[in-house]
Amino acid sequence: MRSIRQFLVANLLIGVLFATNLAILSNLYFGYKTIRPHLDAQMVIMAYSLDAFLQDEAYATKHASGVNARVAHFSTAIQSFPYDDQAYLDELHRSLDNIQFKVFNHRGQLLASSPNAPKLNRAAPMGFGTTTIHQEKWRTFQLVTKKNRRIVIYHPHHTRLYIEENANTKAIIIILLTIPPLGLFLWIIISRSLVSIGQASREIKQRAHNNLNPISTDNIPVEIKPLIAEINSLFDRLHSNFLRESRFAADAAHELKTPLAALKTHVQVAQSMRTAKEIKTCLDKINQGVDRANHTIDQLLTLSRTMPDVHMNAHTLVPLSQVVKQVIAEHAPTALKRDIALSLNDQLPEDAVIFGHDIALQTLMNNLLDNAIRYSPDQTEIHVTLMADHDEYILEVVDQGPGIPQALRERVFERFYRVIGTQQTGTGLGLNIVHQIVALHKGRITLDSVDGGTGLKVRVTLPRPQDIHTHID
Ligand SMILES: Nc1ncnc2c1ncn2[C@@H]1O[C@H](COP(=O)(O)OP(=O)(O)OP(=O)(O)O)[C@@H](O)[C@H]1O
Ligand SMILES: [Mg+2]
Repeated sequence: MRSIRQFLVANLLIGVLFATNLAILSNLYFGYKTIRPHLDAQMVIMAYSLDAFLQDEAYATKHASGVNARVAHFSTAIQSFPYDDQAYLDELHRSLDNIQFKVFNHRGQLLASSPNAPKLNRAAPMGFGTTTIHQEKWRTFQLVTKKNRRIVIYHPHHTRLYIEENANTKAIIIILLTIPPLGLFLWIIISRSLVSIGQASREIKQRAHNNLNPISTDNIPVEIKPLIAEINSLFDRLHSNFLRESRFAADAAHELKTPLAALKTHVQVAQSMRTAKEIKTCLDKINQGVDRANHTIDQLLTLSRTMPDVHMNAHTLVPLSQVVKQVIAEHAPTALKRDIALSLNDQLPEDAVIFGHDIALQTLMNNLLDNAIRYSPDQTEIHVTLMADHDEYILEVVDQGPGIPQALRERVFERFYRVIGTQQTGTGLGLNIVHQIVALHKGRITLDSVDGGTGLKVRVTLPRPQDIHTHID
């Protein structure tokens, strides 16, 4: 479909034509049914009138020629009546000429005949019939009277057809004549209804490339409103994407400046070193610097991907206990190196599933364990618990590290916020990412001190899916 306007005009016209033709055809059909008996009735009336008129044989014979003469004068006599409408008079003449008759006496001799009756005396069937005389088809009605006289009434077939079809032919012509103005009318009203779409498209066309404000739906027809709403929602997502990308670029530029400057210093120092041992020390530092820069980029990317406005439509059913076990296994070697005991509760709800984003949930667990290991002293314990409550799952990571002072437990969720005096390196993005992921899964996160000791207890609650099947569908 190249043009809605053309499509609508063409199809509406086809529809109108189809409907009117159907009406004409049905009219034609029902017209035949009602007009034919009327025409036949006229023939019967005429036959019986003639019979009544020519009762007496002697009278009939005597007056037959008079009848002939009078009938022959019908058309001229009619002209003497006042008629304004010439077309009507013409039609009347044509009709008068139509019904013809012949009267035969009991010996078969022609007594009377209308002037244009068929010349050949072909035997007509009794009652109604059809006969062809000199290639002209006639509808006939033959009456045999008590005096054994035969009265035959003739009605030309083409006239009957003309009467039956005339009205319909005119209707068809009128309909055909109305098509062009109807098409024009349709074209105008459809064009008017499409004006608002044209306005909306012009508005989009004239926009600056960075103008992602919503298009106004004020004068838009209701049928088009959902389309504009979708475009607006797309604009909204694009706007968030632009913001996210530009924030990522600004953050990356800012956060990578320091490690790159440090790397450059290490490289310069390495260049001035003489012994292989000194150079190796510098290269180790460069290596650590590269790792840190890598980590910063990773965290920034994760942050960007888990922002609340990201429409994470890759939601699936995630087996929570498997995610927890997998991340613990990945951190076990690091913990082991520092003699930190990593443990997981016994009665793990193995069937725990939540409707979410598996990579994001791994990232969440990863950051919590990374913090717990990084900020805990050697030879301590970290205990992870996963429990199922009535309508939520509870994940806890408890360590024996320094904990976070009560006053800072909200602030550590801010981007780039790090507790002053923290010895370990980091970007200050981990807990912000965790917070975003928890929000994405409509959960909650709290930080607490550990009863009877130092350490941090991180508690994440994630809602259990209400109806798993509905979500999967
Ligand atoms: N388990 C913990 N024990 C003590 N302090 C913590 C713990 N977890 C986080 N913190 C404090 O909160 C701050 C913010 O943590 P966050 O995870 O957001 O950033 P980071 O660990 O510094 O950097 P990143 O996680 O990006 O490597 C940390 O710098 C640290 O001071
Ligand atoms: Mg961290």
